[in-house]
Amino acid sequence: MKDNVTITGSAHTDRIHDSAIKHVTGAADYTDDIAQPEGTLHAYLGVSTVTHARIVSLDLSAVRAAPGVVGVLTAADIPGHNDISPTGQNDEPVFPTDLIQFHGQPLFAVVAETRDAARRAAELAKVETEALPHALDPVAAIEAGYPHVTAPLKLERGDVEAGFANAPNRIKGRMVIGGQDHMYLEGQIAFAFPGEDDEVVVHCSTQHPSEAQHMVAHVLGVPSNAVVVNVRRMGGGFGGKESQMNIFAAVAALAAKKWNRAVKIRPDRDQDMTATGKRHDFVVDYDVAFDDKGRIEAVGGSFAARCGYSSDLSGPVTDRALFHADNAYFYPHVRLESRPMKTNTVSNTAFRGFGGPQGVIVAERMIEEIAYATGQDPLDVRKVNFYGGEGRDLTPYHQQVTDNILDRLVGELEQSADYRARRQAIIDFNAGSKVLKKGIALTPVKFGISFTATWYNQAGALIHVYNDGSIHLNHGGTEMGQGLNTKVAQVVAEAFQVNFERIKITKTTTEKVPNTSATAASSGSDLNGMAALNAAEQIKARLVDFACEHWGVAAEEVAFLPNRVRIGEETLSFDAFIKAAYMARVQLSAAGFYKTPDIHWDRDKGQGRPFYYYAYGAACSEVTIDTLTGEYRVERTDILHDVGRSLNPVLDRGQVEGAFIQGMGWLTTEELWWDTEGRLRTHAPSTYKIPLASDRPRVFNVDLADWSENRELTIKRSKAVGEPPFMLGISVFEALSMAVASVADYRECPRLDAPATPERVLMAVQRMKGA
Ligand code: MTE
Ligand code: MOS
Repeated sequence: MKDNVTITGSAHTDRIHDSAIKHVTGAADYTDDIAQPEGTLHAYLGVSTVTHARIVSLDLSAVRAAPGVVGVLTAADIPGHNDISPTGQNDEPVFPTDLIQFHGQPLFAVVAETRDAARRAAELAKVETEALPHALDPVAAIEAGYPHVTAPLKLERGDVEAGFANAPNRIKGRMVIGGQDHMYLEGQIAFAFPGEDDEVVVHCSTQHPSEAQHMVAHVLGVPSNAVVVNVRRMGGGFGGKESQMNIFAAVAALAAKKWNRAVKIRPDRDQDMTATGKRHDFVVDYDVAFDDKGRIEAVGGSFAARCGYSSDLSGPVTDRALFHADNAYFYPHVRLESRPMKTNTVSNTAFRGFGGPQGVIVAERMIEEIAYATGQDPLDVRKVNFYGGEGRDLTPYHQQVTDNILDRLVGELEQSADYRARRQAIIDFNAGSKVLKKGIALTPVKFGISFTATWYNQAGALIHVYNDGSIHLNHGGTEMGQGLNTKVAQVVAEAFQVNFERIKITKTTTEKVPNTSATAASSGSDLNGMAALNAAEQIKARLVDFACEHWGVAAEEVAFLPNRVRIGEETLSFDAFIKAAYMARVQLSAAGFYKTPDIHWDRDKGQGRPFYYYAYGAACSEVTIDTLTGEYRVERTDILHDVGRSLNPVLDRGQVEGAFIQGMGWLTTEELWWDTEGRLRTHAPSTYKIPLASDRPRVFNVDLADWSENRELTIKRSKAVGEPPFMLGISVFEALSMAVASVADYRECPRLDAPATPERVLMAVQRMKGA
């Protein structure tokens, strides 16, 4: 036995992603890598080529007659419920029966011997329709009197009318904020295997296996216990696989049961982009009153969102936009309302930050407006408005902010990024530079952690210790590249004091942990880490009891040391100890459970404590723009981000870097564009530009605030990291804004919509010059 003094891969240590080597060598298995059994069929979706219309007839005879086609699936082939709406609003059919509601809407599926045959046949449908007028964006939808897809939320605190009436300054503005395609490397996919009786097993790229299971059961008209959903890993989800996999899982399962053969469905990238939902774009009208020092006195905001044709997750997404419309700032009097508008576009969905980023950027825009209006450095306006101080700790939803660390965090970043001196140097540079102009901005983020649907804040895990001492770990979370499995395994390794390599991380399956929540809201490690720890503690308690009984010692004399166990005077290897426990018939398997304490939320009142805690961060970005073309680049970004006591600093830094770049992409080059007919024209990487490696900041300094510790009893005092740093990308947007403002000597805050593409930057420069 090796007498290790420590274990490998314990919590709070750097540990590469457990699949990192498999990712880069191509050995990692994704759904599409699963060996196809003899007779596997392939499904493909046939989609609408009109935007809003009554269906007069759907003639699929040419589709059926095409070479290789086995059959088609329409609404008529659904034995259960023709609905996959994730919130039970019954507004999202698998296939519509009488109404087409967006261009690219799936109308039927064709099932063929090969994917190619299915794809070609899908083009041959003859659909006769009667056109209806359409509304594509939230403003058009409001004008057309379209309904909300779900009940709006209102948050109110203080006396808003008096706040506005008494303040010396007031600015109103409108900001249009674009959406974003998830652009996960692995697209949507499902592969279904029929079983006996009503059973079916579906392998699916999903962040939410339990929902895929429940939806498949609902559509098939069978109980949930007939359906198993598995996912080993995703090649990225980013929120796009929280509900958007439902149609693929349902179609694969329907076809598998109908033809009693394995069925795979994998859309191409164009169909993936046109037929599945994206980040919500918003049109926000804001109204802010402030004193002469730039301190905010009252805020009003109306947040209209393009939700698409159905509710999907638009309720919670637009709620979260309001929850983050304060970002890091105290609003003495505030009234915010959401307008989740129905539109004739694909139904928008979760995307990293879940509406939060759209709220945060509005807060940051208001700060910039105030800074220009009062002639101050925007950083000073940010600081005077931070939460904190006498009577300045209540959010618009009446939760108290008790853990704010932004004063210290922003102060440290200001120093390490040398913000003040660089800002002055930039102002000097701009004064002498005709074509190239620079800008710099330091923006903070405060992000609430927990699902606002309180019941979602629960998790389960299952641990087996086999009698050779090896450990099998399963939990309800899913792995999408973020490193959740690595972190949870670290927690378990530390609990048992065994090397990380001893733990086998297995696929997520609805058979092992039931009724799981989506791996979302950044809460994967918070929830599943705790559930796994709970399972480990149960097994350890039994092992301690066994040791006391077998060796006749007191519990205090049993210690789990690195890869061994000390019992009284004796020390055994972990393996030998486990073997002895097995021989004595100790149960070596446990199901763990966790639910987040102390949270509650009353949506009707708009009050509660929806978040267990907040995660914080700040970024400082410097950009250069070319005022003749609008092109720009990010010269340098410095980040200081709070992850509490990091479970794994190297993975957390990866999350911070990736989130920043994705946030920057959202606000710069990623533009979704629908034509007037409702066709999404940016439907492939050819027309939709995500950041490349060459777009990263030339200098990129990323640090974790290693002094931070979660005040709440989260897993090892860590904090969630998946989404909060996405909003650090806002520093790039505000730096671009400053560069634009320089052409008119910073007299006013440029009105800049997102994304700030080179075209928009150029137009803003010209507007400012004309002003
Ligand atoms: N990181 C990678 N590599 N791939 C992803 O798909 N999704 C993000 C974030 N980081 C994502 C990612 C989103 S939207 C969320 S909610 C969290 O990871 C989910 O995982 P977690 O709860 O384990 O942080
Ligand atoms: Mo993340 S948008 O909560 O999947």
